Amino acid sequence: MKIKKDKNITIIAAIGKNNELGFKNKLIWNIKEDLKRFKKLTIGHSIIMGRKTFESISKSLPGRLNIVLTKNKKFKAENVSIASNIFEALELTKDDNQPFIIGGSEIYSLFLDMTETIELTRVHDNFKADTFFPDLNFNDWDKISEKKYYSDNLDNLSFSFITYKKNKS
Ligand SMILES: NC(=O)c1ccc[n+]([C@@H]2O[C@H](COP(=O)([O-])OP(=O)(O)OC[C@H]3O[C@@H](n4cnc5c(N)ncnc54)[C@H](OP(=O)(O)O)[C@@H]3O)[C@@H](O)[C@H]2O)c1
Repeated sequence: MKIKKDKNITIIAAIGKNNELGFKNKLIWNIKEDLKRFKKLTIGHSIIMGRKTFESISKSLPGRLNIVLTKNKKFKAENVSIASNIFEALELTKDDNQPFIIGGSEIYSLFLDMTETIELTRVHDNFKADTFFPDLNFNDWDKISEKKYYSDNLDNLSFSFITYKKNKS
């Protein structure tokens, strides 16, 4: 499939020091500032997620075109579009120049090669996890911005918002 040159496919994820993503099909943290940033960045856009992530969120997120990837032809959910492969998912985003890939691990891996931007929240600690973000080759990515914060609602937890762009070399 040919992807339009100006299409800025963007991965958004919150991960621990060792790329921890989730545990028992749930998020590991509930960081208020991170949820706010997620909403601010994704509102008005398409969001593509795996069926397990959708089940963990358990409802469609308002103000966004929710696209769920599943191979299960019988899968149904309210207010979501269903795609059975990445090309169908991208076709559904044809009017959006910045579709967001919101996880989980399987779905990040599927889209990594065609991703232009990564909006990462790096949480500066180790956590118990059973799902991990794919390893990035940092030679392929330029860090555009990075800012560190301390959580208001979780004691002693610090995290950084980092934007990476795929380098063209
Ligand atoms: N920290 C974060 O930012 C973040 C973000 C998102 C999710 N998470 C966490 O990540 C975990 C879930 O991630 P996960 O990797 O286990 O699952 P996932 O990526 O959310 O979903 C996997 C499912 O997607 C479908 N799928 C995968 N490849 C496909 C393909 N090529 N075509 C069509 N459908 C395909 C399959 O659904 P079927 O089995 O129905 O066919 C598969 O079981 C949870 O713990 C969640 O909380 C964390």
